[in-house]
Amino acid sequence: MSDQLLWYTTRAAGAVSLILLSGVVVLGLLARARVERSGWPRFLSAALHRDVALLALVFLALHIVTAVVDPFTHLGITAAAVPFSSYYRTFWLGLGTVAFELILAITITSLLRRLIGRRAWRGVHWLAHAAWPVAVVHGLGTGTDALSWWLLGITVVCVLCVVTVAIWRLSAAPVDPLVRERRGAPLRAGR
Ligand code: HEM
Repeated sequence: MSDQLLWYTTRAAGAVSLILLSGVVVLGLLARARVERSGWPRFLSAALHRDVALLALVFLALHIVTAVVDPFTHLGITAAAVPFSSYYRTFWLGLGTVAFELILAITITSLLRRLIGRRAWRGVHWLAHAAWPVAVVHGLGTGTDALSWWLLGITVVCVLCVVTVAIWRLSAAPVDPLVRERRGAPLRAGR
């Protein structure tokens, strides 16, 4: 792969990862609402949340591998594994590594969910709320295109979507668990 192609791939895969990760956060918030409300669109489910998360991981892997092997930046594997160890854009790249490792922790505990139990899984899953803003700041701080109209536009739309859905979720009145059960959802949903 030529240097130019690697560089373009890193940037494109970074932007796609950001869009997909934002989608994962939004779908996670909406999937929970599905349990609590009747008449919720069936496709907005935990399964869609999981599938988009897997797709995000594929693009994230492409983003990181092409960034690591790019001979121009000379990052090396340590930069992707140890936060703030890179000589190149140390702080901004370190944030990317932190976000990636948080996402890795969420992925591994989701795969081992039955083994570690719901309480531990939920605890780690809360890290998703930290991984996303850290990834946004990484993209804004380190990207060649960070200040270009298209990447700024993508970032603003992603932030608006996540913030709007999060505010809606936080402000929505919690549904009485007994009402929820009558609608057919189990009291302890999600296992
Ligand atoms: C959740 C994790 C991550 C997300 C969502 C993400 C996303 C992004 C985005 C949106 C950009 C801006 C691309 C552009 O300007 O066109 C970017 C740039 C970059 N990222 Fe990441 N990133 C993540 C993790 C990482 C990691 C772990 C590494 C490698 C150690 C990394 C290496 C880079 C590099 C080198 C750039 C600059 C590319 C350039 O403009 O030349 N990223 N990232």
